[in-house]
Amino acid sequence: MKSRLEVLINRKISRRKMLKDAGKASAFLAVSSVLPSEFFNIPFLKEKINNSSDIFFKPIVPSDEDKFIIPEGFSYNVIRKWGDRISASEDFGYNNDYTAYLPIDFLEGGNNSEDGLLVVNHEFPSPLFINGYTDDDFRNNRIKTKEEVDAEKRSVGISVFRVKKVNGEWRFAEDDKFNRRIDALTPVKLCGKAAGSEELKFSEYSAGTIANCSGGITPWGTLLSGEENFQDYFTSENLWEYRWNDADKDFIVENYGWVVELDPFDKNSEPKKRTSLGRFRHENVAVNISADNKVVAYMGDDKINECVYKFISEKNYDKTNRENNFDILDKGDLYVADFENNKWQLIDFEKREELKKNFRSQADVLINCDKAAKFVGGTECNRPEDIEINPVDNSVFIAFTNNSKKKDNFGSIVRIIERNNDSESLEFEWEVFATGGTASGFSCPDNLTFDSKGNLWVLCDISNSKLNKDIYKSFKNNSLFMIPTSGENKGKAFQFASGPADCEMCGGNFTPDESTMFLAVQHPGENTVSLDKPTSRWPDYGSDIPRPAVIAITGFKK
Ligand code: FEO
Ligand code: CA
Ligand code: CA
Ligand code: CA
Repeated sequence: MKSRLEVLINRKISRRKMLKDAGKASAFLAVSSVLPSEFFNIPFLKEKINNSSDIFFKPIVPSDEDKFIIPEGFSYNVIRKWGDRISASEDFGYNNDYTAYLPIDFLEGGNNSEDGLLVVNHEFPSPLFINGYTDDDFRNNRIKTKEEVDAEKRSVGISVFRVKKVNGEWRFAEDDKFNRRIDALTPVKLCGKAAGSEELKFSEYSAGTIANCSGGITPWGTLLSGEENFQDYFTSENLWEYRWNDADKDFIVENYGWVVELDPFDKNSEPKKRTSLGRFRHENVAVNISADNKVVAYMGDDKINECVYKFISEKNYDKTNRENNFDILDKGDLYVADFENNKWQLIDFEKREELKKNFRSQADVLINCDKAAKFVGGTECNRPEDIEINPVDNSVFIAFTNNSKKKDNFGSIVRIIERNNDSESLEFEWEVFATGGTASGFSCPDNLTFDSKGNLWVLCDISNSKLNKDIYKSFKNNSLFMIPTSGENKGKAFQFASGPADCEMCGGNFTPDESTMFLAVQHPGENTVSLDKPTSRWPDYGSDIPRPAVIAITGFKK
């Protein structure tokens, strides 16, 4: 039976298509209308109308050029690209995804918008670009040398480094004391309710972190990094898809698929996996503080027919003592979204008979969280990617990137409104805020970020097997849109950027003064088969191969 979520997403897609066919909405427009939320009654939300969400740039049109294109009046510069130095012995990794900017005076309550730390996730390696390891090598099961394996292990994880705006341009700060890499070779401590359990083979540490996709920043200034498609690194237990090491007993599959917390302000701090948040393909973490000072963390599991989660801390957030918050994500309750009954369902072995019948312990439940979630009523969704909280009205936006198996080819953005606007509430209302497609102009929403006016910035990820082909052709390269969430342009998508060939755009975060947006261009030239014929040469062109890079876009405010 179809879930209410699936029915309403499909209904909105059909309605949009009907209007388009009737000529009321036209295809291939960079600026076009997404239907308002006509099917939904939202009793809990007193929408705060923001009248200042004017469109402050001239929208661009889709492009298939191997270029990073932004509107007139804006400019960008590359801050770090794959292979650049981070510290004396460490390099910037491959496939940058999440970007976060932390003002250098964050811990003193400051909002310096010209000097800060940039934290960047690196999701997966490219054996071809890193080691010249071709598809033929893979098919022939060529064993990599230790140097090749180490180069790939060092290309993933997290980069932390200082950036400064000098004469209007953002620059990497060489030899800064904060500059640091965490990768697949860095020990990461296992913490929380599954740590030390028999199910985790009593391990205290995980061998590094992998599959670091998107993330979040906590109010106490730590980074949360989502380990997402960890399974892509394994073809089976302890057999590495990347041919890293077929027999390395340190690499236990259960040690991956967690949220990692890292203090970027302390270079000597240990990164930690927060197992109480559950193990699944973590896209990101959106953190809110409830009216009663609990930490509430929203998370999505990026796979077709998987769920949306929320964690509520047991302890109160302590504004006055940073260290009191360091382990706050280890204790609390984990819930899954039930869109049929508009409820957050508790995932607790001790309190749910369904779980007692099917699992051995809470550690077992957390490790197999996606399965446990279904037993308590979690709704299957169309690949939950990024989740962000609207700073204007506290509503929670989720990007469902697509699910072609359920006739959702272009994805949607769903908005959750917690009862009484209380993030601790166990009941909510929701609406399909926008759907992708030719009428709206965007397709396959992935990363989201808000500006302070409540404009939603949507970064798209049409996969490379589909990009510029068939039903996806009109969208051209992956791109960035701004969608106001209130006012006369509510729900309309305005294209702001177009990425180079084969890339996906990730990250997307503003400085506190919103004069700069940091953004990651991931896997340009991904369809390359042979190094002498790359499908992209961004960003340096000439004879260079393509390089994933983090850029700063300026010109948002004078
Ligand atoms: Fe790594 Fe869900 O994107
Ligand atoms: Ca993503
Ligand atoms: Ca985001
Ligand atoms: Ca994606």
